[in-house]
Amino acid sequence: MTRKRVLTGINTTGTLHIGNYVGAIRPAIQDSRKPDVDSFFFLADLHALIKCQDPARIERSRMQIAATWLAAGLDPDHVTFYRQSDIPEIPLLCWMFDCVMSKGLLNRAHAYKAAVDAATAAGRDPDADVSMGLFSYPVLMAADILMFNAHEVPVGHDQLQHLEMARDAAARFNNLYAPADEPFFVMPQATGGSAIEVLPGLDGRKMSKSYNNVIPLFEGGRAALDAAIARIVTDSKQPGEPKDPDSTSLTVIYDAFATPEEQAAFRAELRDGLGWGEAKKRLAEKIDAEIGPMRARYENLMAHPAEVEEIMQQGARKARAISGPFMDRLRHACGLRSFTELSGAVKAEKKAQKKARATFKQYREKDGKFYFKLISADGEELFLSTAFESGRDAGVWVGRLKNEGETALADAPVTLCEGVSREAVVAALESFREDEEA
Ligand code: TRP
Repeated sequence: MTRKRVLTGINTTGTLHIGNYVGAIRPAIQDSRKPDVDSFFFLADLHALIKCQDPARIERSRMQIAATWLAAGLDPDHVTFYRQSDIPEIPLLCWMFDCVMSKGLLNRAHAYKAAVDAATAAGRDPDADVSMGLFSYPVLMAADILMFNAHEVPVGHDQLQHLEMARDAAARFNNLYAPADEPFFVMPQATGGSAIEVLPGLDGRKMSKSYNNVIPLFEGGRAALDAAIARIVTDSKQPGEPKDPDSTSLTVIYDAFATPEEQAAFRAELRDGLGWGEAKKRLAEKIDAEIGPMRARYENLMAHPAEVEEIMQQGARKARAISGPFMDRLRHACGLRSFTELSGAVKAEKKAQKKARATFKQYREKDGKFYFKLISADGEELFLSTAFESGRDAGVWVGRLKNEGETALADAPVTLCEGVSREAVVAALESFREDEEA
């Protein structure tokens, strides 16, 4: 059974919140346990350098996110779990794609356009805030995906365009360098899309660090969880007053951790007057029942960075066992080959020339006599013979001209065609003898 390769990456610029857990981490880990799925999980720490040039923050974030995946139940023996920056084949593939993808396509990337629009609106140079890294973001992402030939990439809406661009990179590279029946890259599909759960934050907008409306996943422990939940926006109805369960994100967040029966019961209680304060306590309990044990594992991993480092090193070896040999093939395809292959290349070139060499034509005219002529590689007639009584006699001369070249030409019964130089004829005859040697 060839398993479906599913690949997921997370940028390592910050810490994770409940929205990341519900929308990405939890479903990805669940998927990775299916027998027909071959999962790749990685920390997009090269991407992180685009947005964040604070080394301490990068260091902390990649450690935290690694520990988060592991604490949430990812099994590194069962999946391939690695840091992007440990796989040198990825940035090399990114460069190969940089060289075949058109700038015009990348000009349309949302993140780049947003940066240009913001600078323009502020009356500054359009590219004032655009690094080459930001511009090339989708190309590096294409390399992430195609390096392991992922079939499926579960992503949110904001990443669909990047998947399109990855497909473009795959198609261009295949067209340029792969035999038609043996493409290097499969076309990756975005999965999830709108189906990927987008959890609302404290204020009802999408949970996102930039809105400052998140519930942290592990950072700050149970206390931070309770504190964030206390800030969930509700109306000011008092305990005992009937409440609209859909008037707040509290219930939606609850839903993400509850069974359908529990969801219905919770809503019924709110309609019956359950106080918001009590409802928030229930939500905190519900979330903590699931993530509390994970938080304990997380804290233990954070206290033992060498263990996590060892897991990442193992993951890198596992990933490079795939990316290394694949990159060898890609390098070869582009012409980045060992010089020892060059003798083969020279032979191939000679063979190609051989196809394009001059040719002799032997024929019989209406007069019943036999003739031959020499035609150059580009189809020009170089000389015509005189008439022969027998085809055999004509053939003898053709043989001599092929074998002896210029020597035979001296007394061969042929007339050069108009405008043809003796040197051209000698060169054409020479090519027959080179073929012999090759
Ligand atoms: N761009 C993704 C994000 O912002 C992270 C990412 C980088 C990624 N490379 C990837 C996701 C490859 C999936 C596949 O969320």
